[in-house]
Amino acid sequence: MGCVFSLPEDKRDVAERAPSTRETSFIEKMKKTGKNIIVFYGSQTGTAEEFANRLAKDAQRYGMKGMAADPEEYSMGELSRLSEIPNALAIFCMATYGEGDPTDNAQDFYDWLQENDDEDLSGLNFTVFALGNKTYEHYNAMGKYVDKRLEDLGAKRIFDLGLGDDDGNLEEDFISWREQFWPAVCEHFGVEASGDESSIRQYELKVHTDLNMNKVYTGEIGRLKSFEVQKPPFDSKNPFLATVTVNRRLNKGGDRHLMHLELDITGSKIRYESGDHVAVFPTNDSALVNKLGEVLGVDLDVVISLNNLDEESNKKHPFPCPTTYRTALTHYLDITNPPRTNVLYELAQYASDPKDQENMRKMASSSPEGKSLYQNWVLDACRNILAILEDMPSLKPPIDHLCELLPRLQARYYSIASSSKVHPNSIHICAVVVEYQTKTGRVNKGVATSWLKNKLVNGHKSTVPMYIRKSQFRLPFKASNPVIMIGPGTGIAPFMGFIQERGWLKQQGKEVGETVMFFGCRHKNEDYIYQEELEDAEKNKVLTQLNVAFSRDQEHKVYVQHHLKKSKEPIWKLIHSENAHIYICGDARNMAKDVQLAFYEIAEEVGGMTRTQATDYVKKLMTKGRYSQDVWS
Ligand SMILES: Cc1cc2nc3c(=O)[nH]c(=O)nc-3n(C[C@H](O)[C@H](O)[C@H](O)COP(=O)(O)OP(=O)(O)OC[C@H]3O[C@@H](n4cnc5c(N)ncnc54)[C@H](O)[C@@H]3O)c2cc1C
Ligand SMILES: Cc1cc2nc3c(=O)[nH]c(=O)nc-3n(C[C@H](O)[C@H](O)[C@H](O)COP(=O)(O)O)c2cc1C
Repeated sequence: MGCVFSLPEDKRDVAERAPSTRETSFIEKMKKTGKNIIVFYGSQTGTAEEFANRLAKDAQRYGMKGMAADPEEYSMGELSRLSEIPNALAIFCMATYGEGDPTDNAQDFYDWLQENDDEDLSGLNFTVFALGNKTYEHYNAMGKYVDKRLEDLGAKRIFDLGLGDDDGNLEEDFISWREQFWPAVCEHFGVEASGDESSIRQYELKVHTDLNMNKVYTGEIGRLKSFEVQKPPFDSKNPFLATVTVNRRLNKGGDRHLMHLELDITGSKIRYESGDHVAVFPTNDSALVNKLGEVLGVDLDVVISLNNLDEESNKKHPFPCPTTYRTALTHYLDITNPPRTNVLYELAQYASDPKDQENMRKMASSSPEGKSLYQNWVLDACRNILAILEDMPSLKPPIDHLCELLPRLQARYYSIASSSKVHPNSIHICAVVVEYQTKTGRVNKGVATSWLKNKLVNGHKSTVPMYIRKSQFRLPFKASNPVIMIGPGTGIAPFMGFIQERGWLKQQGKEVGETVMFFGCRHKNEDYIYQEELEDAEKNKVLTQLNVAFSRDQEHKVYVQHHLKKSKEPIWKLIHSENAHIYICGDARNMAKDVQLAFYEIAEEVGGMTRTQATDYVKKLMTKGRYSQDVWS
């Protein structure tokens, strides 16, 4: 077993005690703990939070003291008071979502920034690192907004806005920005880097030998035993355990596995609307967890806590504690994504081969050689932590340090494929199983989709921890408005809900406008999913037009955008004269862009517009909520 030690008695109480009232004044907290750098994060899936933690930790290397902070937990109105602390700096790591929107935890901060024109932030030193993805229309909108708005309110930018692109290499963008950023901070405050590059632990291990097992977390996301005694309301911190009642393969052929699942939410008081997302907390593959235990040579069933050494921190543990290593690696930690460079840097000290040590440190540097090594050896080869440990046999980190460094396993989102009007007690999911071979010959499996695929129906262990995330992807308020839906592959998911809802409205005697569907798949006989349902909807006149593009059934590829162009006249009439709402769902990288381009071309060819007019036209539709996208990459 790796380095095992325990907290002194007097520290135990503090580490285990839940904070009775949370400190909402970050100024008081910084003063009390001698911090001068605060790193706020707007994060949905943990990346910005990870970057914030890394920056807060970095501060120590430059003779400063930093803390990461969730803006939702603090009074952001105190920003103007940061000048009360000498050499103080606020860093913002801000991710963008939706249509250039803030993350849930940054929503209040965003509203506050928007509403307070008279705020005087002239004493505030700040810098922003934005996290986004170029495939989205509003690239890094949130980071750009915060950067500009703080300046408008009088704050002093001490280093240029950093832009991270998750479609490229976000990690590289971050480390390149950070490498320039810290020297600028040192220069600004007239301090010198301490040169201390040693590893700094944030959590201390405590091994429990005689703990009542009723007090040990077994995979709960929030409250201990919350999976045994379920109490509404259910949300991201208190998910509902829904039973899988249907789990069937949708495609008739081909080597992929497209699946339809139904989750029973009876008695949960959960409400949803067509277009919402269901978030699912998956479980890592037990074979991977066991292999990690073997490679590390540890007993995974030891009960432990990792306690924050900073007793003032709001985050007492990196994941719910006390728990076992097995539970942490199964339910709480991300063991399948390629580790980020800071993880490699910190682990390097445990490699006994100097060459391995050197390579790991190099990969964490911003040298061209290091960057290319990380890109090739880790990212392009899709090496997860297990593959790294296997391919670097001299690397033997203590498991507690590894557990401290690995990021949290994140919930996966799925566009709900049902309407609550028709299915008030169940939520449908349409998903494709992720499985691919890496350059090293390993087969990597998607965490959530592989786990969902193997879910038994109605049996013991057939539950899924889930909650609903509201979206803005909504059918028009007036059912008589026409809708144009474009969703190839699993992008059909929300439209199954829309079609059910339009059918239900029709049954209620409502006037329902034209409902046009563009679906796409590879082969008619292979992956034309929901064929029966779609053709029935067409027969019942719920779908007034069903267009299906079979991309590989002929020599040249045919996609949804080609069908869209073929129907350009009636489509233009629906949009321009009949107030149609357009919906696009599925792949963000190619499909959503190609479809948008097709709409530009339709506006040019039928509407007689120039390209500039056409792009403005589509932009206006977006602003009016008549061009909505639910896309992911
Ligand atoms: C708002 C939203 C709605 C969504 N709706 C749906 C939906 O309705 N249906 C649906 O199926 N999905 C949907 N997704 C995607 C879904 O959330 C998951 O990302 C997806 O199911 C994969 O999860 P996983 O845990 O199985 O895979 P993970 O373990 O997360 O692995 C996926 C990762 O593996 C890597 N990868 C995948 N294929 C390859 C390859 N060939 N080569 C190299 N690397 C590869 C990529 O890095 C990818 O990000 C949605 C996503 C969002 C954000
Ligand atoms: C559903 C979804 C919507 C997104 N929307 C945008 C967007 O509008 N603009 C953008 O630049 N990035 C967008 N992104 C990319 C994220 O901002 C990026 O992946 C970021 O690294 C996530 O950080 P987080 O893990 O801290 O939440 C989106 C990502 C997802 C999954």
